[in-house]
Parts: sequence; structure tokens; C-alpha cells
Amino acid sequence: MTDTPGSDVGRAVAGRTVLIAGATSAAGRAVATALTDAGARVIAVGSNDVRLQGMRRDLPGLLTYRSDLGDFAAVTSLADAVRADAGPIDGLIHLVGGWRGGGGLAGQNDEDWDFLHGHVVATLRNTTRAFNDDLLASPAGRLAIVSSVSVDKPAPGGANYAAAKAAAETWTRAVGQGFAKAGTDAAAVIFVVRALDGLEATLAAEVVGLWDVPAASVNNTRILLAPPTS
Ligand SMILES: NC(=O)c1ccc[n+]([C@@H]2O[C@H](COP(=O)([O-])OP(=O)(O)OC[C@H]3O[C@@H](n4cnc5c(N)ncnc54)[C@H](OP(=O)(O)O)[C@@H]3O)[C@@H](O)[C@H]2O)c1
Repeated sequence: MTDTPGSDVGRAVAGRTVLIAGATSAAGRAVATALTDAGARVIAVGSNDVRLQGMRRDLPGLLTYRSDLGDFAAVTSLADAVRADAGPIDGLIHLVGGWRGGGGLAGQNDEDWDFLHGHVVATLRNTTRAFNDDLLASPAGRLAIVSSVSVDKPAPGGANYAAAKAAAETWTRAVGQGFAKAGTDAAAVIFVVRALDGLEATLAAEVVGLWDVPAASVNNTRILLAPPTS
């Protein structure tokens, strides 16, 4: 599904409205740029006005919204505002993450768990609940998250993190099951990485490519993103 220069891959997303939840990281910027270049209408959501302003400067046409995606009331207000300004969305790319861990099992403290739950799980639950009707109604709804290889091979020092990511994966598959049951052309996809650093462009191309394949072929799949082997 990876884009190749000069190919037609990516064009199917043209004209679609795609919201990036947690858009201001390097990965978020790469995804926003690739979607914009492919002709999508991109909505960037983050919690920091300055970083969102910077994205607006770099990506003309980008719509940005500041919202605390960990707060369901804020996310339902966001969904209302987005629908009023841009209509229903066709894609939700969820990128809010963050790492806490270390110190073996003894180091898996409640503070870190609360952070991981709030960022990795709550923001995903909130955004998917608020935008599920849009994705179901879209002729090409797509949801994507980025998970971690640590879900397959969790270590004691990363137990909190792996457990939060596993919860996010399970939630995403539940959303995907809802898509399949509704018989819509929508798909929920879990990208899996060891580390994102250096893979931002790969992720961005894969996100754009989600609209180039039938939903049923990717719904509820895990797609490993790995650096090219030299
Ligand atoms: N980085 C890695 O090596 C790696 C490895 C495995 C998996 N992943 C996953 O890949 C995804 C993307 O990674 P990343 O490093 O780009 O993510 P990230 O930087 O942790 O999060 C993306 C953006 O989310 C925004 N954000 C945080 N809390 C928010 C809130 N309450 N409301 C709204 N926005 C909020 C932050 O921007 P603002 O501060 O501007 O709001 C941040 O730039 C994540 O799901 C991550 O867990 C990453």
C-alpha cells in the first residue's frame, strides 16, 4: 500500500475530509502534508495553539482546532464545530500518544498509567465515539491508529504502555467490527511500529493509501511499518 513517486496511489483521498487527532508532532505534520498534497481537506486537532498556528502557516488550507481530546464534552463540542465548518469527516487519524515506563514491574506506577490511559485510550475512545456516525455515513470512512510492537512482546518495564496500547487496539477493532456489521465501506486500521522516528513519511504514505484499497481488505488489520532494509 506504500505510495510510490509518480504513481496514481493516493488520489482516492482527494476531496475527502480527514481529521488528525494529535496533529502537531513530526508524524502528524507528515500525515497532514501528505493528505493535503493528495487533495484531502485536512483538519488538524491539538491542544497547543502555538503549534497549530505553525502548522497553519506551513500548510495553507489546513483547518485547525484546539481541543483537549481527553475530555469527552470538549470532543463532542469539537465534533459539532467541525461539522458546522467543514461538514462530516471521512477519516479519523488518531495520533495522540506518549511514552511512560521503565523501572521493571515495580516502576509501573499509577501516575504513568493515568497519563497513558488519558492520552492513548481516552482520546481514542472520545474521538471515535464523537465521530463514529460520520465515519459510518461516509462512502469511504477510515479510522487509523498507531500502535506498538510492544503489544506482541510486552516487557515488565513497559507493561503500562503495552497494556494501554493493547486496549487501544481492542477498541479500534470494536469500531471496525461496527463498520463491518453496518455493511459500510469503512475500515479501521492499526499501524504498528517499533519507533516512529524516521518512519513519518512511510506512515503518511500508508495513511493516504488507505483510501486506495477496498475497506474490507484492510478493515481490522494490523499493518507493521518497518524501516526499509538496506
Ligand atoms: N514515537 C514513537 O516512536 C512511537 C512508537 C510506537 C507508537 N507510537 C504511536 O504513534 C502515534 C504518534 O506518535 P507521536 O510521537 O507523533 O505522538 P505524540 O507526540 O505523543 O502525540 C501527538 C500529538 O498529540 C497532541 N496531544 C497530546 N495530548 C493531547 C490532548 N489531550 N488533546 C489534543 N492533542 C493532544 C500533542 O500535540 P500538542 O501538545 O500540540 O497538543 C502531540 O504532538 C502515537 O499513538 C504513539 O503512541 C509512537
